[in-house]
Amino acid sequence: MCGIVAYVGSKQAYPIIIKGLKRLEYRGYDSAGIALINGGLNVYKKKGKVSELESSLTETDLKSTIGIGHTRWATHGEPNDVNAHPHYSTKENLAIIHNGIIENYASLKEELLRKGHKFLSATDSEVFIHLIEDIQDNLNCSLEEAVRISMTQVVGAYAIVVMDEKAPDQLIAARKGSPLVVGVGKGEYFLASDATPIIEYTNEVIYVNDFDIVTIRNGELSIKSIDAQEKTPYIETLEMELESIEKGGFEHFMLKEIFEQPRSIRDCLRGRVFAETGHLVLGGLREYMNKVISTDRIIILGCGTSWHAGLVAEYILEEFTRIPVEVEYASEFRYRNPVIREGDVVIVISQSGETADSLAALELAKSKGALIFGVCNVVGSSIPRATHAGAYTHAGPEIGVASTKAFTAQVTVLTLIALVIANKKGTISEARLMQLLFELETIPEKVEKALGLNEQIKYLAAEFKDAKNFLYLGRGYNFPVALEGALKLKEISYIHAEGYPAAEMKHGPIALIDQEMPVVFIATKDSTYEKVISNIQEVKARRGKVIAIVTEGDEKIKTMADFVIEVPATDEALMPLVAVIPLQLLSYHIAVMRGCNVDQPRNLAKSVTVE
Ligand code: G6P
Repeated sequence: MCGIVAYVGSKQAYPIIIKGLKRLEYRGYDSAGIALINGGLNVYKKKGKVSELESSLTETDLKSTIGIGHTRWATHGEPNDVNAHPHYSTKENLAIIHNGIIENYASLKEELLRKGHKFLSATDSEVFIHLIEDIQDNLNCSLEEAVRISMTQVVGAYAIVVMDEKAPDQLIAARKGSPLVVGVGKGEYFLASDATPIIEYTNEVIYVNDFDIVTIRNGELSIKSIDAQEKTPYIETLEMELESIEKGGFEHFMLKEIFEQPRSIRDCLRGRVFAETGHLVLGGLREYMNKVISTDRIIILGCGTSWHAGLVAEYILEEFTRIPVEVEYASEFRYRNPVIREGDVVIVISQSGETADSLAALELAKSKGALIFGVCNVVGSSIPRATHAGAYTHAGPEIGVASTKAFTAQVTVLTLIALVIANKKGTISEARLMQLLFELETIPEKVEKALGLNEQIKYLAAEFKDAKNFLYLGRGYNFPVALEGALKLKEISYIHAEGYPAAEMKHGPIALIDQEMPVVFIATKDSTYEKVISNIQEVKARRGKVIAIVTEGDEKIKTMADFVIEVPATDEALMPLVAVIPLQLLSYHIAVMRGCNVDQPRNLAKSVTVE
């Protein structure tokens, strides 16, 4: 969590940094700050959103061609002005921004306090700059050297940028475990947690590696390793378009991203599925195919919505490949001494590619000899860089904190993985494979059609916006969809919601049902349809309000449910891609009607880089 941006060059730094912080606000938004060299090293910071910092500075002279900025998601120390970044050193000649967590901050702080350092905040981050200051003073070395030595003493995760009052043309940055990208412009440099603050100015970027130190001085950039070895910077060209990170006329990023799904699913299929010729290509898998088809089991790891995509994948993989699959929360897996064997295949799913628990679980599985495959959205992020192979979801930047298009893209890629393996293993017939490939190609249109339900769902949202609880029920492929629908609602509207396998309702949630309880059934026509109908009747018998997501033309459920939403028919295995759309829209409209901040829900962050 937390977003960092820095600039040094010939332009004014302040507008670049403020704009960049707004782009990174999805990473945290409880306070923000900026440091500039404008007649001294000055730090300006404020509790609240970046816009609140901006309005507090309208009267201030902010001229500076160098600056660092930060938007925070609090870990150590409550969100307030003092705990906001940047933080000064004791002499206030140095300032730091930090994304990550310093695990040994308490012992470092104790030592530094003994040496006379003065701390103002309750954060772990402030310790870092005092440590750097202390090293620089004791060894009388350069700031770069002090940063390098400090990295040998700090335990934890960090992306930092440090500024020195005496050096208005210099930024020193370093990374371990938290993302850091350098934008290389003409005589100017940008540093940020991801590329979104940068692409407006340059598409030449360097992804900084763990334990590397970046020094930008007098228009020149150099990179050194923690053991002071000079490294050759590897400049990559980004393909991201500026429009992809703007709202494009939509009221919220979330709504834009929901409506982008026909396109994002199409992009995900492009160059991979050729139904006409029966071709299915997934470059990332090719090299490891023999290992994958001979594995005894696949373990899927993820958090939040990515974990839900993993559950859908479990059903698809087991059905078509006949390989046993386990799906685990990365945060549980890594701490429970799991059995991991050399032949295991581990699929790590992550939109951001930065989730700390997913990354740590990946490293654990890798250290035990498993083959690691990544399904990620953000190109060049930490998880895809740590895997043996992978497939990107190509959904484009997802900015709304609640994941929507990343979910459908993940499910699409995971479906392709299952079909590629099944085809190679011979566990799917030619005819069934062709049927699924043709059906996959129709999914973008079907999603488009489901988006046409928007007005109807708005009406439904108005009916239920004041509900205190919601229950989401589904069976088979639609069970993970129920979980995802419930998660979307609670994330952005703060209504308590539970997702359950419909049959499990009898073992607990049925006790909650009365005339106040909306129950959303994902009841499309599939192999569990008749059973779900019985579950609907059980709810109706207890006077619950049934909202049913059904297959177009379903007349039976219409006679039982209070509200029916008809989605286009598709193959049972692909239904999650279509059935999730009305649930995303329902949570969106309820949240808007309740006056919630849809794109930046309270307490959440898009990229959870703390454990
Ligand atoms: C956070 C986000 C969720 C996301 C989860 C996993 O909780 O708010 O939307 O599903 O992290 O993130 P990842 O980037 O690993 O998919």
